[in-house]
Amino acid sequence: MSIKVLFTPDEIQARVKKLADAIRQGYSNESNILLVGVLNGAMQFSCDLSKYLTSDIQMDFIKLSSYGNKTTSSGEVKEIFGLSEKVIGKDVIIVEDIIDTGHTMEQAIKIFRNQHPKSIKICALLNKPSRREVKDLTINYLGFEIPDCFVVGYGLDFEGHYRNLPYIGEVVGLPINN
Ligand code: IMP
Ligand code: MG
Repeated sequence: MSIKVLFTPDEIQARVKKLADAIRQGYSNESNILLVGVLNGAMQFSCDLSKYLTSDIQMDFIKLSSYGNKTTSSGEVKEIFGLSEKVIGKDVIIVEDIIDTGHTMEQAIKIFRNQHPKSIKICALLNKPSRREVKDLTINYLGFEIPDCFVVGYGLDFEGHYRNLPYIGEVVGLPINN
């Protein structure tokens, strides 16, 4: 198994900065933004994004049920935990590492809607549209579109490893039973 670089640290930073610019332009009252990073995958992405949003926003992190050790989605989000800021009336931006089938994000949005935010938008670093199963999922802010491959680095993992890589790379020669 080896890792082929897809996006270098410089390319990632340039793109994240552009996303922050787009977010700034999209909101008249930035101070009402609640940026919610989905752990663990969006850890690097949400921190970098927040640094490029220069005005005062609120920031929080949540955890959702995820892949476990497999490389295909269970599509099940049982609950969200770790949210400490109030969502009611806020302009929530959910920051996710990658949208694959879309089931995780669809269910996360449903759970957030029950808490009556003013708005919900999705900011995803990566998108794998070829594997989408949820048809009407809008990604408001997207970093990069990628083909159907398994990627690691910049927060994304394979069996708990490679999250700390500063670049995003494709895993080549993945073991077949994953
Ligand atoms: P979905 O419910 O199929 O959209 O799954 C999305 C989640 O699966 C992401 O938040 C990631 O945690 C994980 N995931 C999907 N594709 C990859 C990948 O290529 N590398 C690492 N994690 C992935
Ligand atoms: Mg994730």
